[in-house]
Amino acid sequence: MGTQAAPATRQIAAVAVIGAGQMGSGIAQLAAAAGCSVFLLDSDPAALSRAVTSISSSLGRLVAKGQLSQAACDDSVKRIKCVSDVQELRGVDLVIEAIVESEDVKKKLFVELDKITKPSAILASNTSSISITRLASATSRPSQVIGMHFFNPPPIMKLVEIIRGADTSEGVFSQVKSFSERIGKVVICSQDYPGFIVNRILMPMINEAFWALYTGVATKEDIDTGMKLGTNHPMGPLQLADFIGLDVCLSVLRVLHNGLGDNKYSPCPLLVQYVDAGRLGKKRGQGVYSYG
Ligand code: CAA
Ligand code: NAD
Repeated sequence: MGTQAAPATRQIAAVAVIGAGQMGSGIAQLAAAAGCSVFLLDSDPAALSRAVTSISSSLGRLVAKGQLSQAACDDSVKRIKCVSDVQELRGVDLVIEAIVESEDVKKKLFVELDKITKPSAILASNTSSISITRLASATSRPSQVIGMHFFNPPPIMKLVEIIRGADTSEGVFSQVKSFSERIGKVVICSQDYPGFIVNRILMPMINEAFWALYTGVATKEDIDTGMKLGTNHPMGPLQLADFIGLDVCLSVLRVLHNGLGDNKYSPCPLLVQYVDAGRLGKKRGQGVYSYG
């Protein structure tokens, strides 16, 4: 092989995904299907078992549709190792963090990852809204910290939004872009401003749908049917909020409100109340709607 560096896409062979919830499980699946060895870590062992079930069922759908062979499905599952100790991540080339949408919690994790992972490792965050520059500042390698924002459900949604922090290097940007393309995604690039591109535009719409419900403009069903059939969205905004997680929607709106300083981003009190009540959406069986 000589002393020349391998092409950027081949350098990422081992990936760690931290947070095995809705997003982390789908991201782990994508990396494993692309041939990477994947370490999937969560602080909650139950989340890891749910992730294994959901990855098998998601890959199973692809096998059923003839898009993946049973052997490739089995190999992908085998490439994913569930772990509970960050020490196991020492050798990975890329970490994709997909834990709770809280700047403090993410920063603590980035401090730890910075100490544990090899110096060349890239630390990416799947944050929906939080400043990549601030997450990077918690580490000693800000040039290797980047936003890699997937969309729910990751195996289906075609997009990855890449966010450069103030110090992200061009080399890291191109490695992450190549990796995103290798796992089948279309890449867009955003500056590091609250909510980036998609959530800057999507979350005010979801918030407005809550205001419409809160102020009695219409029923939840009519708001959703209106947006589905009137604008050809696959889901109405309230159904989509439940699908994303009302906690995630509220956190993003708070980041937009604090970061952009405009009251138009102020979260609707009904959304706040649902989150306070633990009605976090589909993942908890209850949000705007109930799920049996
Ligand atoms: N794995 C594999 N396949 C899956 C899957 C998964 N996790 N989820 C759905 N599919 C497949 C199904 O097998 C089905 O395939 P076929 O059409 O070939 O049969 C297809 O996707 C459609 O699924 P369903 O028939 O079960 O349901 P649906 O037609 O209602 O589609 C949906 C489900 C793809 C989620 C669709 O409703 C949709 O696109 N919704 C909007 C999703 C969206 O906007 N996501 C972005 C949210 S914002 C975000 O993510 C950013 C943030 O930071 C908050
Ligand atoms: P989720 O609640 O489904 O999963 C989060 C997981 O992280 C949980 O299993 C939890 O146990 C684990 N976790 C929390 N703190 C941890 C820690 N310190 N160490 C290890 N594990 C920890 O959340 P999600 O919807 O998958 O969102 C995860 C991230 O992805 C958030 O930053 C969110 O904003 C972002 N995101 C979400 C969506 C979406 O539609 N839900 C879309 C794009 C990006």
